[in-house]
Amino acid sequence: MDNNKDREVPILKAEGVHKWYGKIHALKGFNFEIRPGEAVGLVGDNGAGKSTFAKIIAGVIQKNRGTIYWKGDEVEIDSIEAARNLGIETVYQEQALVDQLSVAKNIFLGREVSSLDALGTLDMDEMEARSQEVTRKLGLRMEPTQEVRFCSGGERQGVAVARALLFKANLVILDEPTRALSSKGVDKILKFIRGMKEEGIGVILISHIFPQIFPVSDRFVVLSRGEKIMEKRQEETSPDELSEIIIQRSS
Ligand SMILES: Nc1ncnc2c1ncn2[C@@H]1O[C@H](COP(=O)(O)OP(=O)(O)OP(=O)(O)O)[C@@H](O)[C@H]1O
Ligand SMILES: [Mg+2]
Repeated sequence: MDNNKDREVPILKAEGVHKWYGKIHALKGFNFEIRPGEAVGLVGDNGAGKSTFAKIIAGVIQKNRGTIYWKGDEVEIDSIEAARNLGIETVYQEQALVDQLSVAKNIFLGREVSSLDALGTLDMDEMEARSQEVTRKLGLRMEPTQEVRFCSGGERQGVAVARALLFKANLVILDEPTRALSSKGVDKILKFIRGMKEEGIGVILISHIFPQIFPVSDRFVVLSRGEKIMEKRQEETSPDELSEIIIQRSS
């Protein structure tokens, strides 16, 4: 099965990516790839360049050098919209949601469904029904009409994951998804990740806490000061080995 996976075209491939913030060389020729249904743990110490890479892929910032391929074709991800159009969704702990809007409106933000007969008005019923369906599938109990400011941290992430599922994202980036979560919240996120993998979505998992993300990750890429220092399949490594190499390199 693994051999089949290796033959598939990567959803995303990055080659020789460099990023400078003024004099800070945050990514130094980084190479990365991810295949459909694969979860890759992108790990490393503070300031290693993990979020920088995530932001480049999500179209939040631009790389200075390097090439990005999307399903084999070279692409420029020059805006958040460009990333979304490719099918890339990013999930942060402090998810950028609009507090005063409902769960359903947040899920459909920027992609509102207009009803055919009423020109320009949103088909709230349809958006709410589809939101309900996808949040139930994720095991979330909140109502689609509920304002997002009343959602817990885990539920806010659920809204972002719901977007990913509903709009058939191909690649989802979770930057520190478990950092501020209770153990119940962590279980929920791990369940979301398994669900996304089953749907053939590629998942990039950025985390400091390896024991949590270890079981759901197929592969680990270790960054240190902007460079890849190790890459191993999950079955070839352990949370202890990953922690050790990161501590060694950062001291
Ligand atoms: N907007 C910015 N302006 C200047 N320097 C930045 C900016 N964003 C990040 N950096 C620097 O780039 C380097 C990589 O930062 P990045 O946020 O990618 O690290 P990280 O691996 O996500 O770290 P952490 O685990 O702490 O989140 C760091 O030295 C950081 O200080
Ligand atoms: Mg970061």
